[in-house]
Amino acid sequence: MGCSKPQIFFYFALIHLVIPTAAQSICSDTGNYTSNSTYRANLDGLLASMINNTKIDYGFYNFSAGESPDKVYAIALCAGDASPSECSSCINQSRYNLLQACPNQKEAINWAWDKKCLIRYSYKSIFNILASGPNRASYRVADAPDVEAFNNVLRPFLDSLRELAAKGNSTRKFALQSVPAPNMQTIYSLQQCTPDLSEEDCNTCLKDVQDYTSSCCNGKQGGIFVAPSCVLRYETYRFYNLSDETPPLPPPSSPPLTAASPPPELPTTTPGMH
Ligand SMILES: *[C@@H]1O[C@H](CO)[C@@H](O)[C@H](O)[C@H]1NC(C)=O
Ligand SMILES: *[C@@H]1O[C@H](CO)[C@@H](O)[C@H](O)[C@H]1NC(C)=O
Ligand SMILES: *[C@@H]1O[C@H](CO)[C@@H](O)[C@H](O)[C@H]1NC(C)=O
Ligand SMILES: *[C@@H]1O[C@H](CO)[C@@H](O)[C@H](O)[C@H]1NC(C)=O
Ligand SMILES: *[C@@H]1O[C@H](CO)[C@@H](O)[C@H](O)[C@H]1NC(C)=O
Ligand SMILES: *[C@@H]1O[C@H](CO)[C@@H](O)[C@H](O)[C@H]1NC(C)=O
Ligand SMILES: *[C@@H]1O[C@H](CO)[C@@H](O)[C@H](O)[C@H]1NC(C)=O
Repeated sequence: MGCSKPQIFFYFALIHLVIPTAAQSICSDTGNYTSNSTYRANLDGLLASMINNTKIDYGFYNFSAGESPDKVYAIALCAGDASPSECSSCINQSRYNLLQACPNQKEAINWAWDKKCLIRYSYKSIFNILASGPNRASYRVADAPDVEAFNNVLRPFLDSLRELAAKGNSTRKFALQSVPAPNMQTIYSLQQCTPDLSEEDCNTCLKDVQDYTSSCCNGKQGGIFVAPSCVLRYETYRFYNLSDETPPLPPPSSPPLTAASPPPELPTTTPGMH
């Protein structure tokens, strides 16, 4: 057993890097079903159909099944850089965890963003609807060496990445980039919304989560911060493959109008032509 001690030590060192939240599942107390109910059968079928769906390759599932009052709505979202197999195995695992955590609640949510997915379901429609709370965080224990200098880079960076993510299309609202930070650090960030949200709602969701990072975890070196409709992650190490980074927006083809540019020319009436 000579080698087990360092391994145990390493394990403890690892888990103290991050404070996971007590619960990454939330069971809502808005209604219950019984285990043999039609509702549960619809829910099981819905979650299974997400896992073996082979048509959707963009990691977003918004499915419903059954008829009122047993109709179930479900959403699953995978990280924009998740492979199809990472995506389906994350949803598969989350489904077991969520049904175990919330065995009879009609409405529930599970975040497994370290494994690159979230799933949620409800008895009422949750499609195209912004939900920027409740929030959860898993954040790093360590503070940045100089919190003020760190925030002076982090905050504007999160603002610009949020806009990039919100500008996505109806299958993908996702952005992943990095920026140099003080003290030889680099900040890497992912921001993503469920793509059924409008650009405006996506922006609102990510802004609310960004505000949450300052209130819960100001100065921390990183973490994963989640809402039902969007996710924000930032770290001081690269947690993704470089090839998945979002390219910067191309510069606008014509220079944007500024206060300094001349006003557009008014049509002039030519004397003597009327
Ligand atoms: C649902 O069941 C839980 C126990 O599993 C109970 O605490 C809760 O009050 C029930 N909620 C409703 C709305 O019936
Ligand atoms: C579910 O099981 C209960 C007894 O455990 C029974 O009373 C009820 O009728 C069943 N419901 C359905 C929809 O089969
Ligand atoms: C999807 O999965 C379910 C449950 O695992 C299975 O019963 C069903 O046959 C599968 N459907 C397809 C189209 O593969
Ligand atoms: C889902 O997970 C179960 C249990 O871990 C496993 O037996 C099953 O093969 C998985 N299904 C898929 C489609 O990944
Ligand atoms: C959405 O954008 C992604 C790239 O971000 C692209 O691959 C995909 O084709 C676009 N989908 C639609 C429906 O425009
Ligand atoms: C599900 O999402 C897709 C892609 O965003 C969208 O085209 C479709 O209308 C959505 N379905 C529902 C029922 O909202
Ligand atoms: C990077 O890509 C490789 C090969 O595609 C994959 O195995 C690995 O999990 C990826 N790493 C991350 C952090 O996504």
